[in-house]
Amino acid sequence: MLLSGKVAIVTGGNSGIGKSIALALAAEGANIVIDYIADPQATEDLEGQIVALGDKAIGVEADVSKVAELQKLVDTAVATFGRVDIMVNNAGIETRTSVLDTTEEQYEKVLEINLKSAFFGTQIAAKQMIKQGDGGRIVNITSVHEDWPMPGNTAYCLSKGGVRMLTRTAGVELGPHGITVVGVGPGAVATPINTATMNDPAAMKTLDAAIPIGRMAQPAEIGGVVAFLASDGASYLTATTVFVDGGIMHSSPGL
Ligand code: BGC
Repeated sequence: MLLSGKVAIVTGGNSGIGKSIALALAAEGANIVIDYIADPQATEDLEGQIVALGDKAIGVEADVSKVAELQKLVDTAVATFGRVDIMVNNAGIETRTSVLDTTEEQYEKVLEINLKSAFFGTQIAAKQMIKQGDGGRIVNITSVHEDWPMPGNTAYCLSKGGVRMLTRTAGVELGPHGITVVGVGPGAVATPINTATMNDPAAMKTLDAAIPIGRMAQPAEIGGVVAFLASDGASYLTATTVFVDGGIMHSSPGL
């Protein structure tokens, strides 16, 4: 197993891509800390699945857009498992609103959950890793839209653009401490964030046609990449993003 005995925190870990990451890390032997706000039952179910894989899991009630509550996640990891080896800043939302119709409230919520939580999650985890003295891994779940416009989803795009530069800058700053910082940029993934598209056959047809691989990703196809990036096999990768997008960013009609 790639991650035997490692301790990982996965924000937004009880649904969507986060859940697949928590399960993929656990399948490689990691013990897992996940946060929840709204759905203790989903968290308990996931804890059960992780325990069934032979690892330990703990769910913590925490709002990851608040610095004190991110600190609580790290403190719980240390109190329960003794350390933090892997921090996955995954929690994210989108409003599907344009530059013309995004409200102040929507803007703040998207930026706080997607960018502020990744920034302070990185900071707080890195401080703990530096204290431990033997490095660590920080994985930021961004999106193809860290670099590629998605009209009608402006606040989301700019939050992910921020995570892109967080990954690069923190990767440079933390390299001397043996901490790597890597972004993972999924394309379209079959998770609750895409429910509206998945319920619209015409939109799905257009989307599938735009993806060279011809379909959305399943969440496990993202989780597996994160598990590898958290492992020793990826020890020289930092300050960059790995896109897991079925080729969508590079698709072309050939005209
Ligand atoms: C967004 C989805 C979108 C996908 C591909 C993701 O980051 O959350 O809404 O379908 O990118 O464009």
